[in-house]
Amino acid sequence: MEDFFTLASSRRSIRKFKDMDVPQEDIEYFINAAVSAPSGCNSQCWRFVAIRDKNVLGKIEKAVISKVESILKIRESDLPKNYMDSKRKMVSFFTKAPVVIAVFMTEVQYYDPIFITALKENGYNDESIMKLFANYDLLSIGAAVQNLLLAVHEKGYGACWMNEPAICGGEINEILGVPEKDKFISLIPIGVPSYNPRSKEMKNIDEVFFTV
Ligand SMILES: Cc1cc2nc3c(=O)[nH]c(=O)nc-3n(C[C@H](O)[C@H](O)[C@H](O)COP(=O)(O)O)c2cc1C
Repeated sequence: MEDFFTLASSRRSIRKFKDMDVPQEDIEYFINAAVSAPSGCNSQCWRFVAIRDKNVLGKIEKAVISKVESILKIRESDLPKNYMDSKRKMVSFFTKAPVVIAVFMTEVQYYDPIFITALKENGYNDESIMKLFANYDLLSIGAAVQNLLLAVHEKGYGACWMNEPAICGGEINEILGVPEKDKFISLIPIGVPSYNPRSKEMKNIDEVFFTV
């Protein structure tokens, strides 16, 4: 196995896949890595759905594209040439992957009711409390997704964390039969990469890190 730094620093988003399957045992390995992540007060506030059915992926694609088109309608006369076509591709490439993981965040929970009551008595409301803590449930989802992406990469597959499909999150819940109270967060297409990604520009470490 590669050392951790090599694994983490060589992971890249992959958006095109070979026509090769990802066995179910590998999917389970990725999910086991994801659910090992830390979560606020160990809430494990996540749900994952593996989608292999192309018919289901087609329904999600249709929902995402029609939402994108309806949002962009207001700018129709002003869009750069080819913008619409490339946007459609950018939001729908997941359909070409052999498997796509949908990630949901389960109902928001408060972990310390006494402290939350005190915060409310100090004038905070639900929304400002979530802002204060940078939404710890969402942070937990981020930790799980990163674990999953690294496990995917470790096994020689590629994946892309896609948030844009969240524009029609409610419809994705419906298509997948996931209850409304679980909030759709992301789609993660996974497969064997069909290309080598270009190197990416990195910020200098001094820009993002200091020690006091
Ligand atoms: C929270 C989050 C949301 C993202 N959403 C999308 C997306 O909707 N579509 C997409 O193509 N890439 C998406 N990406 C991938 C980023 O574009 C990519 O991580 C970034 O450009 C850095 O490239 P790398 O992943 O190859 O290191 C997302 C990444 C993150 C972390």
